[in-house]
Amino acid sequence: RAGDAEAGAKVFKTCAACHNVDTDKKKVGPSLKGVIGRQPGSAPDFAYSKAMVEFGAGKTWDVALLTQYLASPRDVVKGTKMAFAGLKKPEDIDNVIAYLQGFSAP
Ligand code: HEM
Repeated sequence: RAGDAEAGAKVFKTCAACHNVDTDKKKVGPSLKGVIGRQPGSAPDFAYSKAMVEFGAGKTWDVALLTQYLASPRDVVKGTKMAFAGLKKPEDIDNVIAYLQGFSAP
């Protein structure tokens, strides 16, 4: 399923309260610039939950893992401090991931 980055920019408005994507600066959440290809829980300046750091061991945020996580963050990373229930519509997930890809190395 290929997402639409332009539609994803609109979806990202619900994430932008807590995440930057065009700078490395953290907000309530870690910057998502370059998140695709990064190990979960590894932005250097962010104090993650223990749950996210443990979840990240040996893993990489790729399209498949993000697709699972964004559907239901608290089920995928039990104990995460990301206070967000998840995106219900599969197309919103695909689109926001396409948007994030524009801020990550190819
Ligand atoms: C973590 C994506 C909405 C707060 C993360 C991570 C991703 C992500 C990929 C892991 C980052 C990493 O490992 O470096 C998104 C997307 C959102 C969204 C795409 C919108 C669809 C939100 C909202 C909030 C939030 C609305 C605040 C209410 C956080 C926090 C973490 C986090 C605090 C760190 C979690 C932890 O350490 O357990 N988010 N997020 N996010 N997010 Fe979000």
